[in-house]
Amino acid sequence: ARLVVLVSGSGTNLQALLDACADPAYGARVVAVGADREDIEGLARAERAGIPTFVRAVSAFETREGWDASLATVVERFEPDLVVSAGFMKLLSQEFLDRFLTLNTHPALCPAFPGMHGPRDALEHGVKVTGATLFVVDAGVDTGPIVAQVPVEVHEDDDVEALHERIKAAERAMLVDAVGRIARGGIEVEGRRVRIGAAAR
Ligand code: GRF
Repeated sequence: ARLVVLVSGSGTNLQALLDACADPAYGARVVAVGADREDIEGLARAERAGIPTFVRAVSAFETREGWDASLATVVERFEPDLVVSAGFMKLLSQEFLDRFLTLNTHPALCPAFPGMHGPRDALEHGVKVTGATLFVVDAGVDTGPIVAQVPVEVHEDDDVEALHERIKAAERAMLVDAVGRIARGGIEVEGRRVRIGAAAR
């Protein structure tokens, strides 16, 4: 299966996928990495792995629709079976989502603590367990059908950074496992099979 991965930051989730894809038995490979900004570690990771990259910054376009369309065009060029938004901090348009089956990871147990500050919100709320969620992206913010989840304990002495780092370790393992299973034959989500080729193309 051909993966296009979208990143906005450090790209540790991307790195986990790159490492997994080194084994041909994994069933997937990253064919391109896209970002919404230059000079991020996520892009450097792709470059070190010899994988093509592209950047589409919202600020370079007159309209959000123009950005959406340009992103879809460049993604299409790589003919992905699956798009993985791995710490990509932009919402994707419905048109994009109709075209590409897209998964996203979120550092909380959805539907709890959606949005930009999952680890902080979990700490502030005082939950004892939080975690990470992999879901099929839909029009909402962290609302799509859940593909996989992993629990992570909150420790007494956690600050946001320590908690987020522990979540990210679990998140990477979950992402690698689920993407591999989808690539090798699909998995069941809410009674429907999520598999390569399932999105309208
Ligand atoms: C992840 O926790 C992701 O869920 C969140 O931001 C983090 C990205 O980490 N949205 P990285 O760029 O993959 O290291």
